[in-house]
Formats: sequence, C-alpha cells, structure tokens
Amino acid sequence: MKKSLFLIVIAMMLVLSACGSVTKKESGADAGDKKTEKTEVNLYTSRHYDVDNELYKKFEEETGIKVNVIKDEADVLIERIKREGTATKADLLLTADVGRLYRAKEEGLLQSVSSDKLMKQIPEKLRDNDDMWVGLTKRARILVYNKDKVKPEDLSTYEALTEDKWKNRVLVRSSESVYNQSLLASFIEIDGEEKAKEWAQGIVNNFAQNPEGGDRDQAKAIAAGIGDVAIMNSYYFGQMLNSTEPEEVKVAENLGVFFPNQETTGTHVNISGAGVVKGSKNADNAVKLLEFLTDEEAQSKFASANYEYPVNENVEPSELLKSWGDFKEQDIPLSTLGENNAKAIMIFNEVGWK
Ligand code: FE2
Repeated sequence: MKKSLFLIVIAMMLVLSACGSVTKKESGADAGDKKTEKTEVNLYTSRHYDVDNELYKKFEEETGIKVNVIKDEADVLIERIKREGTATKADLLLTADVGRLYRAKEEGLLQSVSSDKLMKQIPEKLRDNDDMWVGLTKRARILVYNKDKVKPEDLSTYEALTEDKWKNRVLVRSSESVYNQSLLASFIEIDGEEKAKEWAQGIVNNFAQNPEGGDRDQAKAIAAGIGDVAIMNSYYFGQMLNSTEPEEVKVAENLGVFFPNQETTGTHVNISGAGVVKGSKNADNAVKLLEFLTDEEAQSKFASANYEYPVNENVEPSELLKSWGDFKEQDIPLSTLGENNAKAIMIFNEVGWK
C-alpha cells in the first residue's frame, strides 16, 4: 500500500516537472540562489530613453548588482506581473507616467518601501502616500508654436486653445497616450468632469488633423504647415533640439516654447517613477537602484541627457531647460491622475478624440 502511494507521488512529480519547464526554471531562481539574490535586480520598464541604459551600467559598476531590463508598455508589464503572480521575477516597475503606477498599486502589485535616502532625495509630493512608488523625473506638458505665425502673447492657457481663433490649428496626439489621459485627468481634478469634457470637445473642434504619431510628430506637423500650436512633453522638445537628425533640429529651432496656465492653475506636470514589486526577491537591490537614480549624479544625467526635470531639489535643471525659464507647476496630488484615468478615457470617447 505504502509502496503504491510512493509510486503515485513519484509519477505526479514527473508529470509536474514535464509540463512546467519554464515554471521549474523560474522557481529555481525564485527558490533563492543566494548568489543571485545579492547580485541582480530585475527591472520591468516602460521608459524608452537611452540615458537609462547608461545609468544602469554605472550602477552595475558601482555596486556589482546586475540590472536585467525587460522593456514594454506599462499596461503590458502590469498585466504580466499580475499573470506571473508570486512567480514573477520583477523587482521594480518603472513607468513614464504616474497614472500607471497608481494602477499597479491599486492592483496590489507593489509594496511599500522605507528608505531615509529616498525620503531625503524626493519631495513628499512626488512620493506615494503609502510609499508604494516614488517619482524619478518630472516632465511638463508644454505648448510649442510656429514662431512665424504665433506670438507668445497669443497664448495663455490650455483652455484658451478651445477658442475659435485656433480652429484647424491645434496639434495633439491620440487620446490613447497616457500623457493626454493624465492631462485630462488633471483638469477633471481641478475643474470637474463637465468642464474637462468641454475642454476636450473644444480641442477636438480645433484639431488641425486627426491625431497621429507621437509628441515629436506634432512638432513636425507644425513645420509641415499642418497646424500652428502643439501640445507635447518638454523632454521631447529638448531631444529634438539636440537630435542627431539635422531635420529634427531644424524643425525644433523654428518653434517657440510656452508654459501654459502660468497666471492660473500652472502647467501640467507628470512624473516618470517606479515602485518595488510585491514579493520581490531582490527588494533591497531595487531600493538601492532607486536611491542611485535619485542621487545628485543620476539626476543631473536625466536632466542633461534626456531633458527631464530632476525630482531631487539639490539638482538644477540642465542649461537648456533653464533657458526656457522657471514656471509654475500645476499643484494637485499626483495620485488623482490615476484616480481620474478611467473618467478621462470615457470623456475622450464621448467627444470623439481618437
Ligand atoms: Fe515619453
């Protein structure tokens, strides 16, 4: 009897190992090879900027901790972490927008982190209330305009772009972009749903073309004479001015930069940020990487190489960003961008902003 039970157990083990080679491989790593635990950190990131790899390399050199990078869209990575469950190898989730960090937190995928260094290096308003995520860089959603056709005094607010004088002149990418979703989410927070919807409708009425391409393509459409003013993230404009493609530089040099809503609610600011994944096997390494990315050296690099605004207040923006001048930032809790995301998407659908 005992012998047959033993045989059944052996047979079950064989079946399990045969049908789950990936699982087996993963659980091998998960089971905690001590050496692995100490020397690596697995990063799921939706950031798509060259400067990141340079910084990871530097971190590897300084700490001996290897950074393994898996790159995809934030929603795909969030679904992947959910699907992988406790078997996930992800230690750190990095996104280019706070709305997705909020989503990951709501889904229960992140864990709180306590680090004096992070608290010192990142202002409280750029950290989650429950310490589930932190901001790594800031980006402003600015206006750029055709200097031949538009004077800075013609511009004032995001809201003013809905006026009739901007008919067929406004360029902005699709509402599928999380950057636009967070922009509208901020208006929902400040002005309420009704006004936010009026704004979205007003912008659709003034579209120079149906939204296509990314932020940089909106600037290029100005150069092509399709429209006169575009909404885009600040760092893309910096990247274009410093591009290795002469065409991009030429396009950008003919455009002016404008920070809207300076007399009112401030220019919309979003963060790129990160949170440690719940159940992370290398959580200490993940925190070390966050501390590294928010120290003065890395923050200067984000600013000088990718034209993002530092979160660390000891670090000055790059010369280029400084040349654009100081600006008043929109002042709302960042978590509201995530909270209002679903409403924002609904409004975009209602007003036909594709
Ligand atoms: Fe981006």
